Amino acid sequence: MFVLFVLLLIIVLIIFYFYAIYFGLFFGGPFIPVSKRDIKHLAKVFNFKKEDVVYELGSGDARILIYLARKYKIKSVGIEINFLLSFWSKLKIKFLGLDKFIKIKRKSFFQENLEEADVIICYLMPKAMKNLREKFIQELKPGTKIISFSFSIPDWKPIIVDKPSKKDKTIYIYEVGKTRTKNKSKIKNQNACLPVGRDIGHLFIN
Ligand SMILES: C[S@@+](CC[C@H](N)C(=O)[O-])C[C@H]1O[C@@H](n2cnc3c(N)ncnc32)[C@H](O)[C@@H]1O
Repeated sequence: MFVLFVLLLIIVLIIFYFYAIYFGLFFGGPFIPVSKRDIKHLAKVFNFKKEDVVYELGSGDARILIYLARKYKIKSVGIEINFLLSFWSKLKIKFLGLDKFIKIKRKSFFQENLEEADVIICYLMPKAMKNLREKFIQELKPGTKIISFSFSIPDWKPIIVDKPSKKDKTIYIYEVGKTRTKNKSKIKNQNACLPVGRDIGHLFIN
C-alpha cells in the first residue's frame, strides 16, 4: 500500500513538473526562467523608473517583477497562462508583502489589453514575438518600451541590443515611436516607425 502511494506521488509530481515547464509551449513558450544574472543585466541596461507601469508577458514565477518591486517599487502586471506558475507567483508575492505592487493574471497575454503599459517585458519564442507585433502596433502608446530576452521582433529595429558576454542573453529593447520596420506599408500606427543610428561599444543604438 505504501509503495503504491509513493508511486502515485511520484507520478503526480512528474505530471506537475511537465505541466509547469511545457504547458506554455503551446501558447508562446515553455517555462525557462531568466537567471539572476540576466535580471541584473536587464537592470544595468534599462533605466527603470518608479513610475513605470510594467507588463510582463508570460511572467513565469514572477522573479523579474519581484526584483523590480523590491528594487524600484515598480507597479507591474504579470500575465501567465500556466495555472501552477501563476498560483506559485501569487503565493510568493503575498508572502513577500508585494501584492500592492504586483498583480498576476492567469490568462493568455493575447487576451489582455496592453495600452496601460509603459514597459513590456517578454522572454518568448520567435513565433510568439511575431504574433505579438500586430498587437503592439494596435495597443501600445508612443514611448512604450518593449524589452525582449533572446528573441527579437521580426522586421523591427531595436533601439538597443545588448549582449556584454557569451554568458549573457541578448536583450533587445524597442521603443514605440523609434522602432523602424522594413515593412512600413503593413503598419497602421506610424508611430512605430522612426529610425535613428548610433553605436556605443557593446550597446548598439540604431
Ligand atoms: C521562457 S518563459 C519566461 C518566464 C519569465 N518571463 C522569466 O523570464 O523568468 C515563458 C513563459 O511564458 C508563459 N506563456 C507562454 N505563452 C503564454 C501566453 N500566451 N500567455 C501567457 N503566458 C504565456 C509560459 O507559461 C512561461 O512561463
